Amino acid sequence: MSLTTELRKQSPLREVEGIPLPAATVDNWSQIQKFEGKPDDLLICTYPKSGTTWIQEIVDMIEQNGDLEKCQRAIIQHRHPFIEWARPPQPSGVEKAKAMASPRTLRTHLPTQLLPPSFWENNCKFLYVARNAKDCMVSYYHFQRMNQTLPDPGTWEEYFETFTSGRVAWGPWYDHVKGWWEVKDRYQILFLFYEDIKKDPKQEIQKVMQFMGKNLDETVLDSIVQETSFEKMKENPMTNRSTVPRSILDRSISPFMRKGTVGDWKNHFTVAQNEMFDEIYRKKMEGTSINFCMEL
Ligand code: A3P
Repeated sequence: MSLTTELRKQSPLREVEGIPLPAATVDNWSQIQKFEGKPDDLLICTYPKSGTTWIQEIVDMIEQNGDLEKCQRAIIQHRHPFIEWARPPQPSGVEKAKAMASPRTLRTHLPTQLLPPSFWENNCKFLYVARNAKDCMVSYYHFQRMNQTLPDPGTWEEYFETFTSGRVAWGPWYDHVKGWWEVKDRYQILFLFYEDIKKDPKQEIQKVMQFMGKNLDETVLDSIVQETSFEKMKENPMTNRSTVPRSILDRSISPFMRKGTVGDWKNHFTVAQNEMFDEIYRKKMEGTSINFCMEL
């Protein structure tokens, strides 16, 4: 059996309250739930493939006052502990977060109902980035093809069924986005859209800066806009995942920094799939006021 097949077999998804999660995360679940958020924590929250890496780099550049060299201190996956991440014997996300000095910036893909309760109790700051469901699905499909620790997505037709029914790691897109959207006015939550960052990065980066309580010069802001562009981040070894072994992320199948666009779904969805998707979406998202931009 190849190493790749071995990894895929070792890493099935298991469920917590009906949400599929990587098995090692579920094994570590009591530690994750007991995790102590602190009042000065900033938690980056996303559904997978919604621009997590992008917003992480933006937040880090703001924290470092635009100093790119300081942002090169570590690969992006190591700068902000991923609280539900576990791959023994490596230290878990919880362990890394505990070892980090405050003020901490952490990240998670957890839906609201699975978030460690202390984050709510301590009124932490949350930065949520949402991406339209169709582009998210396309991005997740290619990511599951190349990420050997996640289930093989099968064909695009098969994945269409898997994604729309929410049988993917971190569960259904609809409930994730709705859940965070519904609590956004009750907590300190800055709710951003991938499409808005793409359309007007400077304006959205400014919102992040204000939310973080920072005040940076116009020239610094401009350089953050430049350094966090898709083209720059694709070439940057600290953000493009090129240091991850190919047995885990196989870039010969698909790059991690793949296209970084709005509307790539049009290159994947058939007319029939699009109609079917719109119908499922309408039912699942009924009653919410959230609106997505589907093309720029
Ligand atoms: P695509 O697969 O559509 O290209 P995450 O970091 O949550 O896993 O999300 C990955 C997605 O965000 C990928 O989408 C990736 O290309 C995109 N992305 C990463 N950095 C980006 C940037 N600077 N600008 C636009 N998109 C970016």
